[in-house]
Amino acid sequence: MSEANGRSVYMKSRKFYGVLFSFVLVAMLALAGTGGASGIGGVVKTACTKCHSSKRICLNVGAKNLDMWKATVKTMVRKGAQLPADKINAAASYLTNLKPGAGEICQ
Ligand code: HEC
Repeated sequence: MSEANGRSVYMKSRKFYGVLFSFVLVAMLALAGTGGASGIGGVVKTACTKCHSSKRICLNVGAKNLDMWKATVKTMVRKGAQLPADKINAAASYLTNLKPGAGEICQ
């Protein structure tokens, strides 16, 4: 095999990794937009401000621990909050980690 041939294989694989890299980057950006901490904030805001204002929630930010928030979120889902069952834990830990007066909900 000539040297030129080896080089073109090298160039091709570089191009392949370039394409792969941009694909991974796009996938990560898409995930960050839907599944990250900011994503759950939007879900909670939508689901939890249907019946009462976010003030009711923000009054409790910093006062409830994870277990208490889990219990609250489950109670609210029983009352009719439109939150998928597999989002309950994520919502509870989002609420637990909110700083008073901060986050999408309490601005
Ligand atoms: C179907 C209507 C409804 C939805 C949707 C709803 N709530 Fe409530 N929420 C209530 C009612 C009614 C009360 C007052 C009754 C009570 O205190 O048990 C309340 C009270 C609260 C309280 C204050 C009482 C406590 O237990 O600390 C918090 C905090 C709260 N809700 C958080 C949430 C969160 C978080 C969500 C989203 C997962 C949510 N709510 C969605 C109806 C709803």
